[in-house]
Amino acid sequence: MKISSTGGGFLHDTWESRQKDEWLTPPGIIHALGDFDLDPCAPVHRPWSTATHHYTVLDDGLIKPWFGRVWMNPPYGRETGIWLNKLATHGDGIALVFARTETKMFFKFIWSEANAILFMRGRLAFYHASGLQGGHAGAPSCLIAYGDRNVRALKGSGIVGALIIGRRKSRSRWTLDRVARDVWAD
Ligand SMILES: C[S@@+](CC[C@H](N)C(=O)[O-])C[C@H]1O[C@@H](n2cnc3c(N)ncnc32)[C@H](O)[C@@H]1O
Repeated sequence: MKISSTGGGFLHDTWESRQKDEWLTPPGIIHALGDFDLDPCAPVHRPWSTATHHYTVLDDGLIKPWFGRVWMNPPYGRETGIWLNKLATHGDGIALVFARTETKMFFKFIWSEANAILFMRGRLAFYHASGLQGGHAGAPSCLIAYGDRNVRALKGSGIVGALIIGRRKSRSRWTLDRVARDVWAD
């Protein structure tokens, strides 16, 4: 695999940029989290539904109104932050993103805005739009909850990982005050 000569230059950046955007969430993850009203960034041709309603690139999910409980595995790259910002503002949904905890985007829209984070154990194997599963991703993933019912969904999902739940200190700040569940042991 070629190492990217631009941007961060990490091996997994190359993996992401080459596979760009059309990698689908393993359906078991979404089923474990309950029913969603809207997926604002869904493939045009999809092998399964991810929510009751879908927006695709043909609609441009960023400019459409969002409603209800949102499932969001956004396009990768710099634009991921724009999608996370919209979900944080909407305040009701779960996002699936790479666990790049050090990035400006993670600090701005996740550490500062989310209500819970579930760091999943292992690496996900995403799906092609054909419905076939690819290899394991080049980076770990996490699920981000905005809104109380989505915190509950992460807690009750049975998805293996470390769940961090936030407590709001003020309107704009919250602290990570407890690890509700961790399952590091085999
Ligand atoms: C990482 S995939 C996730 C697909 C699906 N949400 C899932 O969880 O399996 C991101 C999707 O966003 C779509 N997309 C990209 N730009 C978009 C836009 N402006 N509006 C809506 N969808 C978009 C891509 O076509 C791609 O299907």
